[in-house]
Amino acid sequence: MNVKWQLIRILEENKGTYISGEEIAARLSVSRNAVWKAVKALKSEGYEIDAITNKGYCLSEDTDVLNADEISSLLGGEAGKFSIELRRIVDSTNAIAKDLAISGENEGTIIISDEQTEGRGRKGRKFFSPHGTGVYMSIILRPKISAKDSIMITTAAAVAVSKAISAVSEKDAGIKWVNDIYIDRHKVCGILTEAAMNVETGRLDYAVLGIGLNVYSPAEKFPIEIDNIAGAIYDSDHGRGNIRNQICAEIIKEFFALYPHLESRSFVDEYRSRLFILGEKIFVINGNDYTEAIALDIDDDCRLKVRYDDGTERFLSSGEVSIVID
Ligand code: BTN
Repeated sequence: MNVKWQLIRILEENKGTYISGEEIAARLSVSRNAVWKAVKALKSEGYEIDAITNKGYCLSEDTDVLNADEISSLLGGEAGKFSIELRRIVDSTNAIAKDLAISGENEGTIIISDEQTEGRGRKGRKFFSPHGTGVYMSIILRPKISAKDSIMITTAAAVAVSKAISAVSEKDAGIKWVNDIYIDRHKVCGILTEAAMNVETGRLDYAVLGIGLNVYSPAEKFPIEIDNIAGAIYDSDHGRGNIRNQICAEIIKEFFALYPHLESRSFVDEYRSRLFILGEKIFVINGNDYTEAIALDIDDDCRLKVRYDDGTERFLSSGEVSIVID
């Protein structure tokens, strides 16, 4: 374990109180100068550490910095199954994970970034991914499922994310079919699964599960085109403690608990119970066409059953719906 990581642990244990450089140096068996250098490095990564002569160092209670070692430690005994790589800024974690998957990287490799410059959303849209307020994560999967079942990856992820949010923040996170997570009728998370099919077997060669979660509202506002839809778990732009690492660990745990059941679909009831649009008026989006309908139910393939105004009922297997925002 390197000095920086051991120092984080000590500061975390004493969060909100001062601990002297001398004591830290003794505990880590390094010089006080080495402690000071490690503190400087951590501050440059976003840790809010107060330093006062004769008192020592104090990590602010609010600090919320993504850290791969911390996520692994929160995963406990399961950590060995994953290889977590944390980046400060990338174009798109999905783009990186796809390249890695193509070059043979193992299932369980997870790329997490603090910021994306070209975050990818569905239908070629950009996913707004500002620095320090969200979690942008891509997981490499090698699922032994038929390509036609790939929607189950997205739906399992939606269940996992909504459970993880509720566990960490106690907020009620619901699913908007098929892959968005909402709190108080605002989108806080989008999921984009990109996959390649082996044409000979009809099975997936790899899949990259991309999850973009707004944990805090951005300091600047959301871009105008999503301002009325987008939201965050917390309506503030500064940290509330070690939340982002906890959410990452919970998402990973929850998703991999469902992952063996993609073919059996045993989590579909849970997906259904978290869908907040059932019984509601929605709009089925087809290009520039918005057709009013009522969302009735989903079937075991997570297709959405809708009833149009003329009484006809249809199952939608992919595509998009929008909800009415009050
Ligand atoms: C959507 O709502 O349209 C899906 C958004 C998916 C965004 C995530 S952020 C992490 C991963 N990397 C990307 O470039 N996109 C996904």
